[in-house]
Amino acid sequence: MARIVVVGSINMDLVTQASRFAGPGETILGERFLTVPGGKGANQAVAAARLGAEVALVGATGGDAFGRQLRLGLAAEGIDLAHAVQLDDCASGTASITIAGGENQIIVVPAANARVTPAQVENARPLIERADAVLVQMEIPLETVEATLRLGHRLGVPVILNPAPAQQLPTEWLQLARYVTPNQHELALLLGADPAEDFRALMQRAPCPVVLTRGGEGAWYREQGEPHHQPGFKVDVVDSTGAGDTFNAALAVFLAEGLPTAVRKACAAAALSVTRLGAQGGMPRRSEVEALLARPAA
Ligand code: RIB
Repeated sequence: MARIVVVGSINMDLVTQASRFAGPGETILGERFLTVPGGKGANQAVAAARLGAEVALVGATGGDAFGRQLRLGLAAEGIDLAHAVQLDDCASGTASITIAGGENQIIVVPAANARVTPAQVENARPLIERADAVLVQMEIPLETVEATLRLGHRLGVPVILNPAPAQQLPTEWLQLARYVTPNQHELALLLGADPAEDFRALMQRAPCPVVLTRGGEGAWYREQGEPHHQPGFKVDVVDSTGAGDTFNAALAVFLAEGLPTAVRKACAAAALSVTRLGAQGGMPRRSEVEALLARPAA
């Protein structure tokens, strides 16, 4: 069983489904509203746990009702919350999400996530030392992202940096990660490049190993200097929220099987994740991923 440590955000997602997105200053009627657990860190932790990994989450929730609900949900997935602190003087992170036509728009208010500290990462060192992989994203303070990258690198434990939401980072940080997993837009932001630049050229210029996600088109990665494409799996898209998180979690869980296999399984897991509503709603079990991989090509 893979041992995974996730350092990242825990949010309550406030999801509205509508036939289209509202424009600036416009009010439209939506079709459905629901409150579901999310946050990139929590999502990756849940996806890894459902794929059979032993998972610990380093993060923070507030002292509000959302925080209590989020912790109960994570504990029910079997996730170790010993290093996910509860901050009673603070609200839990939220994400206001609108879904229309299979696309989403998200506004995150970090709240407690803005207080995840490098000290928490250091306290989790005994878990990180024995982990097969560490996952970290960018909805927590950058100093904590840096501390995670440095500790993983020092201990020789692979850290997967999912640079979302993206911003430019020092080259040195990128080189501390075993893999960086942006989409095309995030890769351009990371490198301070033009988002219109061809993604293959961007990957070539990146100062670190990149696994680039391309939504329904699958993923690209470099192996022995050569670019490789793993095509996506065809599914009916209900909600793409959390697909990237599922991809990253599967990549970490299956990393020991080699990059090509891990990327293939990650694409399959991500495809399954978009077939149900809510970031965590469609995250598959290991058996579902295996069933999709065994399915004859259409
Ligand atoms: O990656 C999807 C997640 O991004 C959502 O669950 C939301 O909470 C935001 O953090």
